[in-house]
Amino acid sequence: MIKPLLNAITNYYRTEVEQYPMLNEVLDALTAATIPPAISPDPKPVIRHLDGLNQDRPTSPTKPIMDEFLAVARNLPWSQTYGYLKVLDQDYLDNYGYIRLIGPDSIVPHPDLRVGIGLWGPNLNYPMHHHEAEELYHILYGQPEFRTDTTDFTTHSIGDAIHHRPWMPHAQRFGDTPTVLLYAWTGQVSADAELLESA
Ligand SMILES: [Fe+2]
Repeated sequence: MIKPLLNAITNYYRTEVEQYPMLNEVLDALTAATIPPAISPDPKPVIRHLDGLNQDRPTSPTKPIMDEFLAVARNLPWSQTYGYLKVLDQDYLDNYGYIRLIGPDSIVPHPDLRVGIGLWGPNLNYPMHHHEAEELYHILYGQPEFRTDTTDFTTHSIGDAIHHRPWMPHAQRFGDTPTVLLYAWTGQVSADAELLESA
């Protein structure tokens, strides 16, 4: 069921690996992934934002990932970061969630890296946070703004990559449409992200 989605991510990451060497081990894991025969859905309120995403999707190198994601997203388990449940308000929690494709506690178990896709509703602010893992985001839909502790917010669009070194503080502001982000984590991936400021 998620094989076409993993294939689309693999094909795209092969075009990015020269620029982002962390993707070498991610590609190895994607290539070796054994997909479980049955995947139980676990919807969250955020998936209502999927409904409007089928229209107005421009052609881009990441479009095959978005196509395959939308084909299966409603039937996959949606997660939220455990440590965020008590500190982010209900509005945020009703408008955010992600699919853990590969990694600890993921559809395809893997101890050493993570790959997934997150969805955020319009106009949310994701407060400054950090994590030990190295992180690479690719924008699949939307116009989110990213900042770090040393840079101001800059707007990004579909296909852009945003790279965070281990422990680099970063924050996001999401635009007037929903945002969909592909992410990969390598290095120390067992610990979740931690907020550095309140919502
Ligand atoms: Fe991050």
